[in-house]
Amino acid sequence: MQLCDAMRAENWYPRGLFRSGSPTTPGRRGTPMGFKSATIEGCERSEVAIFAMQVRLKEPTDQAWVESVLRRCWGGSDIVVRGCVYKAADLPALIAGTQEGLCTFAIESDGMSAELVTINALVPAKGIGTALIGALVSRLAANGVRSLSVSTTNDNVNALGFYQRRGFRIVAVLPGAVDQARKIKPSIPLVGYRGIELHDALVLTLTIPKSQ
Ligand SMILES: CC(C)(COP(=O)(O)OP(=O)(O)OC[C@H]1O[C@@H](n2cnc3c(N)ncnc32)[C@H](O)[C@@H]1OP(=O)(O)O)[C@@H](O)C(=O)NCCC(=O)NCCS
Repeated sequence: MQLCDAMRAENWYPRGLFRSGSPTTPGRRGTPMGFKSATIEGCERSEVAIFAMQVRLKEPTDQAWVESVLRRCWGGSDIVVRGCVYKAADLPALIAGTQEGLCTFAIESDGMSAELVTINALVPAKGIGTALIGALVSRLAANGVRSLSVSTTNDNVNALGFYQRRGFRIVAVLPGAVDQARKIKPSIPLVGYRGIELHDALVLTLTIPKSQ
């Protein structure tokens, strides 16, 4: 078994695995990062062996930490997504590194689609979010899930870029969706990143290739 096969089997995802070779600069767009990347298959980059991050499923002993992250980052476990309330603390979750990142997700009843309910990198721009998405997509693909959706808010331009760089496409813009969600969860703030008023949601979907 080659190194990268071993890492994949153990759900090890290198930091920056899905990054393009050069940084994105104005006027020069980086390569969109998919999950069929030759970089993964070929393990061409030396950094693969150097910066690895383990992603694993939540275990019972993580529960208190999961709840504290949800409280701190989301004001609690109840997450309103397009009118549905997910109890994120009760959902399956992936944890990156030594509790450096968390995502919670739900596989919908059709078994074909999934919702990324929350994602948080506790240390930004170190590849934690990428590792979580990569591990989640692999896991979903292995279970026959064909699409992963996520909703983000109108202020979250960082997340909007992050998801699109990882192959997600915007499939809906929902004006007033955050205002509606606030009626269900009044603790949703009025103002978000960079002082932008929080009103609307954007839905992004990633098509997941069939597992090989
Ligand atoms: C959105 C979020 C999950 C992204 O996670 P992240 O760990 O910061 O993301 P990554 O580090 O994997 O990638 C972010 C950038 O850092 C770069 N990066 C990755 N590893 C790096 C490293 N070792 N050194 C420097 N930069 C690195 C990536 O290239 C990426 O840039 P790109 O998107 O232009 O390619 C994170 O910003 C977050 O938790 N935000 C707050 C919560 C939130 O908004 N969640 C989404 C709600 S819908």
